[in-house]
Amino acid sequence: MQKFTYQNPTRIHFGEGQIAAIANDIPKDKKVLVIYGGGSIKKNGVYEQVSAALASHEWAEFAGVEPNPQYDTLMKAVEKIRNEKFDYLLAVGGGSVIDGTKFIAAAACYEGEDPWHILAKQHTVEAALPLGCVLTLPATGSESNKGAVVSRGKDKLAFMTDKVQPLFAVLDPTTTLSLSPRQVANGVVDAFVHVMEQYLTFPVNAKVQDRFAEGLLLNLIEEGPKALATPDDLDVRANIMWTATQALNGLIGVGVPHDWATHMIGHELTGNYGIDHARTLSIVLPAVMKERRADKEAKLLQYAERIFGIREGSVDERIDAAIERTIAFFKEMQVPTRLADVKLGESDIDVLMSSLESHGMTALGEHGNITLNDSRAILEAAL
Ligand code: NZQ
Ligand code: ZN
Repeated sequence: MQKFTYQNPTRIHFGEGQIAAIANDIPKDKKVLVIYGGGSIKKNGVYEQVSAALASHEWAEFAGVEPNPQYDTLMKAVEKIRNEKFDYLLAVGGGSVIDGTKFIAAAACYEGEDPWHILAKQHTVEAALPLGCVLTLPATGSESNKGAVVSRGKDKLAFMTDKVQPLFAVLDPTTTLSLSPRQVANGVVDAFVHVMEQYLTFPVNAKVQDRFAEGLLLNLIEEGPKALATPDDLDVRANIMWTATQALNGLIGVGVPHDWATHMIGHELTGNYGIDHARTLSIVLPAVMKERRADKEAKLLQYAERIFGIREGSVDERIDAAIERTIAFFKEMQVPTRLADVKLGESDIDVLMSSLESHGMTALGEHGNITLNDSRAILEAAL
């Protein structure tokens, strides 16, 4: 196991009715800006619960953060904050709203020339407004991590800093009952790939992280299809919600190598073609597994055995079977598994390659050895 320092400071309020708990988590002397998306929270009772919880606070709202949050929209919130002197942010929504709020929190305190440089030039975030969140879509883990992804035109870029980690997160599974089957599936698949990118690398004898990761994968394989088949089952939603949070709250990623190649290639698919985040991952991951099988051999075999019980056959046969089972799970979740499924082909690969190059994605993977040519091979394997 590699050395690490770990702290996750986000206080979690889990379960039905827990939105009320934010009343005590936000100091009464704060002026709160509630930030949300396209209005789903006004249809499922979440907005009313947030309003009730903030009855003793001074607050206002900023709506319209879009999926894959856009820089220009977020900067409008920054302007409002500066003009009206808000000093606490509450994100209410999915990963896009939470990520967008994280960027707003940092940009509002940014003293440099252009807040876009927080993403494009990875400028250090010296300060950020405090923020909390009410999660309504289990998927990204953003509710209790320090990362955020923001888009501007075709550029979809990430930044990470402790300064924007939510101070608290409300996870009430009943809020997820209004999700469309597409968003439920997206969430399960995104969480699955988060675990895989921290697990499917090379062994470092990190038994806690490995077995914890395997437990999360098994949960998602078991509960994901149930969430589509029996969408009213609250126990299923609760387990998915807690699993998705654990998938990317930092815990399974400590002391182990990471491979975010699938995410980095996926971001270019979203940036150029607007494909939902999770649906880019279900296309790219199987191709990464195929193309990087030599680097990942030991973990692929462990994954095959411990997740799918595959013990028979040659090394290649076991790995092929594990990849097929992964694809079958994605198909069960009704997400695309090839570029052709989203009507992309050979000619689109050049577009993706130039985006990868312009974003400096030239040394991806757990060994930093996935060159542009290797990414091309991965995309060709995904055709
Ligand atoms: O905007 P509203 O009206 O709220 O509708 C949203 C949106 O249209 C809707 N939705 C959310 N909760 C709902 C609901 N509809 C009905 N009932 C509910 N309870 O779902 C749609 C998608 O929401 P979005 O927030 O975009 O989805 P998700 O949570 O999957 O977030 C995706 C974003 O997170 C980034 C992705 O790149 C993408 O931009 N990620 C962030 C990460 C992080 N911060 O650690 C890691 C991830 O890898 C990911 O990259
Ligand atoms: Zn993701």
